[in-house]
Amino acid sequence: MIQVDPTLSDEGFLRLFEKGIKGQWTQDQIDWGAVEGLRQDHREALGQVMTPVYLGEQTAMLGVSAVLPMILNSGQAEPAMYLSSMGLDEARHFQNLNRLYRTLGIEPLASRRVPEMWRYQARLLQERDPVQWVWGILISDLFAKTFYGGFARRFPDTVVGRLSRRTLQDEARHQAFSDRYLTRVLPTLDEEGRKNLLVLRDDLFRVMEKLGTRLQAPMETLDWSPEDFIRELWDDTEIWARRLGLISES
Ligand SMILES: [Fe+2]
Ligand SMILES: [Fe+2]
Repeated sequence: MIQVDPTLSDEGFLRLFEKGIKGQWTQDQIDWGAVEGLRQDHREALGQVMTPVYLGEQTAMLGVSAVLPMILNSGQAEPAMYLSSMGLDEARHFQNLNRLYRTLGIEPLASRRVPEMWRYQARLLQERDPVQWVWGILISDLFAKTFYGGFARRFPDTVVGRLSRRTLQDEARHQAFSDRYLTRVLPTLDEEGRKNLLVLRDDLFRVMEKLGTRLQAPMETLDWSPEDFIRELWDDTEIWARRLGLISES
């Protein structure tokens, strides 16, 4: 139940909320004119490879808006406050990519060519439980991180690299939230609930592997293999699963 006058006592979430507010930034912090050295074939490939990230930013807005009422309605005001700042981050990421497409004169892939993007979103939307949601949001944040990290390494001194690096700072805050939320709630989860988290992970990875195959050609233009991408993301997810005690250390 929402409380009228709760004691705001969870310092960890309050600190994250504070960081979320102070970490806000606008498009004028990016040099949108830094486009030299971006070859035409790279631009076009980038437009295609960025497509799932672009939709992913909107999926993240959906995710935040789905989980926020669940958490607020259970009387947890502090994480709900943090999630409000996260919604603003995801809206900014979406707006930035929208501008990047126009700045580089490129276009995303037609939706029908990457149906897995919609399958990914549909799989997340099936969830009705806040813990599953936050876990799904964490995997999606790691997915975004792997992409933005790859863009930043490939085009460091351009608008693409600068925007990616700046965005990664926001994503790091999002991971810190998932970390705190999941670390506290996972010990209270029964065996079935824990198993479902791994089922969700495996379902999302199955979709992402197909997505990788679909993006093979433009990724290769960027000297990136879908296998390397999935491996990096999988390893990252494993580190989290271990750290949260979802899978045993070995
Ligand atoms: Fe994002
Ligand atoms: Fe995020």
